[in-house]
Amino acid sequence: MDIQQPKLLSGPLSFFGRAAIVVLVVSALLLGCAQTQPIEDAGQKPWPFADTAPAVTSTSGLVVSGHPLASEVGADVLASGGSAIDAAVATGFALAVVLPTAGNLGGGGFLVYRPAPDENGDAEVETLDYREKAPGAASHDMYLDDAGEPTDRSVIGHLASGVPGSVAGLWSMHQRHGTLPWGQLVEPAIELAREHLIDESRHNGIKSAAKKLARFETSAAKFLPGGEPLPVGSTWSQPELAFTLEQIRDGGRDGFYLGPVAGLIVAEMERGSGIMSHEDLAAYEPVWREPIEIDYRGYTLFSMPPPSSGGITMALILNILEGFELPAPDTSALVHLEAEAMRRAFIDRNRYLGDPDFVELPLDRLQSQQYADTLRAEIDPERASITPADLFAPVESTETTHYSIVDAQGAAVSITTTINAGFGSGVTVAGAGFLLNNEMDDFATAPGKPNMFGLVESENNSVAPHKRMLSSMSPSILLNDAGELHMVVGSPGGPTIITSVMQVISNVIDHGMELGPAVEQVRLHHQALPDKLFVEKEGLSPAVQSDLRGMGHELVVRGGYSGDVAAILATDPGFVGVADPRRGGGVAAATVGGSTATGTASATTAPTSTDG
Ligand code: DON
Repeated sequence: MDIQQPKLLSGPLSFFGRAAIVVLVVSALLLGCAQTQPIEDAGQKPWPFADTAPAVTSTSGLVVSGHPLASEVGADVLASGGSAIDAAVATGFALAVVLPTAGNLGGGGFLVYRPAPDENGDAEVETLDYREKAPGAASHDMYLDDAGEPTDRSVIGHLASGVPGSVAGLWSMHQRHGTLPWGQLVEPAIELAREHLIDESRHNGIKSAAKKLARFETSAAKFLPGGEPLPVGSTWSQPELAFTLEQIRDGGRDGFYLGPVAGLIVAEMERGSGIMSHEDLAAYEPVWREPIEIDYRGYTLFSMPPPSSGGITMALILNILEGFELPAPDTSALVHLEAEAMRRAFIDRNRYLGDPDFVELPLDRLQSQQYADTLRAEIDPERASITPADLFAPVESTETTHYSIVDAQGAAVSITTTINAGFGSGVTVAGAGFLLNNEMDDFATAPGKPNMFGLVESENNSVAPHKRMLSSMSPSILLNDAGELHMVVGSPGGPTIITSVMQVISNVIDHGMELGPAVEQVRLHHQALPDKLFVEKEGLSPAVQSDLRGMGHELVVRGGYSGDVAAILATDPGFVGVADPRRGGGVAAATVGGSTATGTASATTAPTSTDG
C-alpha cells in the first residue's frame, strides 16, 4: 500500500508577520513577558510534581501499578517465588477489585513480555492482544441516529460494550508462562473483594463519575450507597464480585465465558437491550502477536502492534526525533520539535490504523527510517505547521491503567488494561458485581465524524462484527545497547498514552534524567487534530508558552494532568520502580524475607483529565 504524504501547510504569516512575532517574542523575553503574557499565565503556581513520585529500589522484584494494594499483591506473589507473569495475573485481578474505574474483568488489555534471559543473555519478547471485540451482531452504522449522526450509545449503556478480553488474556499468559497455581493468584483479589478500605483517590474517582453511575441501578447500589460516593476510609465489601472471582478461580477462563457468570452477562444484556451473546463470550480468544521493535539511539524499544496504535505511533515520533539533536527540557525549541513530530505521527495513525485481522496496514513503511526522514524534512524548526482540518483526529479523556513488573530473574511484564472511560459503560452486571467496558467507542462509529471524544478516524477503524477497535495503549519494554533489560513503562490516557510513554523514554535516554524526574516532568501532547498543543497546567513557564504561541502553536493549558505512568528502570544494583504522582498509584518491592517494601503516591492530586 502506498503512503500518501500528509499535506501540511506552513503557517499563513508573511515574512513581515513572522518578523513582527519575533520582535514581540524577543521584546516579551526582554521585558519579562509583562506585555504579552496571556491572562491564564498570570500568577502561575510552581510545578506540583517535583520530587513527589514514589520510588522503591529492589534487586528481588518490583511491581508498579495504579493502586498500592494491587502492587502489594503482586510483590507478595514475587516474594513467594512467583514469576513476573504470576505477579501480573494476581495484580490484574486485584486491580479489578480495588481500582474499579479502570482495573477490570469486563474490559481488555495488552501485554508486552520479556522472559528472563537464557544463559546466552537471549530472551524473545512476545505480546498478547486481549483487546475486546465487537459482538457478532454489531454493524457498521449501529451507533448512528436516523439523520446519520453518531449517538452516545457507543459510550454509555449496554450497547457500548465490546466482548471482554481480560480474563481470557490473564488465563492465556498464565497457561503459557505461569509457574504458581492459578487459584493461588486469584485468591488475593477475592479477599480484597470481601473487604478493603476506600482511599481518597478512589473516592474522588467515584465522585467524578457519580452522574453516570447513578443512571444504572446496579452501579448506583455498588458505588453510591445512600446516593453518595463510597466515603474515604470506609470498608468496601463486594460479595457479587467475590462470587465472580471464585468462579474464575475454580473454572479458569471458562469460569467467566461459560457457566453462571456468562449467564449473568447475557441476562444483563437482555435487560438493557445489549447485543452481546453467549456465542460471543464462548468464542473470545486473545492473540499472541509479534511486537513492534524500534531502534532509538542504540536502545531497542518493544511495544504493542495493532490493534493498538501505540507501537507504530511511537516508532514514527521517535524515528523523526532521532534525526535531531534535541534541545534541553522545558524549552520552546524542544516542545516545538516534539509537537511537530507528534502531529505527523498522529496523522498516519488516524488515517491508516485498525484491526490487522480486518484491514491491510502499511506497517513496514510507517516504521522505516526513510519515511521518518521525509516527515522530518518538512519540520520548520521555528514555525508550527498547520494540520488541514479535514484530516482524521482523535480526542479522548477517560480511564485505563498500566502496571509494570520485574522479577528477581529479570523477566519483565508491561501491561495496559482498560474499560475505556472511567467506570466503562456505567453498567455493573447484576449478580456478578463488575463493570462492563465502553470500548465500542474506540471504533470510528461514524467514519469521518467525531464521536463523543472528538475521535474522527477512517473506515479502517469502522465497526464490524468480531473486529477489534483501534487502541492507543502502549505497554513497552526497552533494552540497552547490550541487549539488557533497561526499562518497563506504560500509561493510561487515551491518545496521550503514546506521547506520555514516548516522553518518559526520551527524558531518560535523551536528557539523562533519573526515573523519578522523568516521570514527574511536565507532559505535552499533539495529535494533529484538533490542531492544538496541549500542555499540563503549571508545566511550562509563561515565557516558553509565549514563545510557542509566537511560533504559531495554539497552546492549550490543560486543567488536569496527563497520564499515570508506571515505570521500572535498571539501576546498579537492581531496578527502581516509580509510580506517577499524578493519580495515587503505588510501588511495591518483593523482599527476600517474603515481606514487601512500598511507596505510595499522594492521593491529593487531581484526577487526570484531558479536556482542560
Ligand atoms: O484503548 C484505548 O486507547 C483507550 N480505550 C484507552 C482509554 C484510556 O487510556 C483512558 N485512560 N485514562
